[in-house]
Amino acid sequence: MKRNLLIQFLGIGGILGLLVSCVTKKDNEEFNVNNMIEYCVDKTRSTMLTLDDADSLPRNIYLYQKNWNKVGIHDWTSGFWPGILWYAYEVSGDTSILTQAKRFTNPLQDILDVPVDNHDLGFMLFCSMGNGERLTKSIEYKKTLLVAADSLATLFNPKVGTILSWPAMREKMNWPHNTIIDNMINLELLFWASKNGGSQSLYDIAVRHAETCMHTLIRPDYTTYHVAVFDTIDGHFIKGVTHQGYSDDSQWARGQGWAIYGYTMVYRETKDKKFLDTAINLADKFIQMMPQDKVPYWDFNDPSIPNAPKDASAAAIIASGLLEMASYVKDENSKIKYQEVALCLLKELSSDKYLSGNKNQAFLLHSTGHWPKRTEIDASIIYADYYYFEALLRYKNLTSRF
Ligand code: GLY
Repeated sequence: MKRNLLIQFLGIGGILGLLVSCVTKKDNEEFNVNNMIEYCVDKTRSTMLTLDDADSLPRNIYLYQKNWNKVGIHDWTSGFWPGILWYAYEVSGDTSILTQAKRFTNPLQDILDVPVDNHDLGFMLFCSMGNGERLTKSIEYKKTLLVAADSLATLFNPKVGTILSWPAMREKMNWPHNTIIDNMINLELLFWASKNGGSQSLYDIAVRHAETCMHTLIRPDYTTYHVAVFDTIDGHFIKGVTHQGYSDDSQWARGQGWAIYGYTMVYRETKDKKFLDTAINLADKFIQMMPQDKVPYWDFNDPSIPNAPKDASAAAIIASGLLEMASYVKDENSKIKYQEVALCLLKELSSDKYLSGNKNQAFLLHSTGHWPKRTEIDASIIYADYYYFEALLRYKNLTSRF
């Protein structure tokens, strides 16, 4: 399969010349997806044995540390560790991992005991319980997910056409209604609920949100703002700004990742071609901007590049998104192009430069969480591991069909 892909790919030329160095490198043959999956499963097994409290969840590891710093269930990243356990169980069939997946997923039900105060419910509950429900068909998980979807939908403003991402920022930042590009990912919970006993309105909200963001958060050149600010009286788009990027007009790398991944998922759920076209345009923009080793700097416009920190999490999200997106692309050359970019990213993340190996408990090094706040810079971060693992599993499924 690899040889066929390579031969067709080399005929494409143009923008792809940029990528040839990755796919023709002799050491490319050394990338073995099964070995990398085994690495993730082994690390998951050894980490799970060190974690005592099921409501204390891995979030980050700084350069000088070995072990995960943990957060409580209300942190936006709480669903990723349970999600990793579900992926590890799915691929290994190891019931000791299943036990741990349930153990770390169950406490997340309590998230719904407090009123919803941000858009992150999808990250928290769909990566964890969503995967758990998919693999076990648990009625309890299903019920919780349906309540979560209804709760997320209460943040929707029909005048604007989007979910309010950060209620707390209305006053703090004077952003009357604000929606962030990351919010795209949480639409998956709404789509799932509408297909599984929830209301049709959840589907309608998700579609309207995606449409509104296409015309506001996505700039005409297919880069993205982090935050869109809207008027609550007439719903108009006031301005695009940043929260975690270098500047309002810069391209925060993970934002581009959320957008590529998010619009691909919205296409999967709607089969509306405009969403796939949007994902493709966002992906082409990423390909145009990506650096030599493909793994993006945390923001494409940081003037200190090439000395700026990288963001392995953005690379992992984009690799996973591209692998799904490529599966919907009809044109064979384009399909191969996106698969090859994803492979380049996975290969680079699986190199000694990005893999943590024995350095710490995570799978990957070199992610950037919040540069403006100077937190989680050049750190291991749990969502980088989650999307890296997911991308490996997607790549394995793709290659095992040949
Ligand atoms: N969703 C928050 C982040 O990407 O940092």
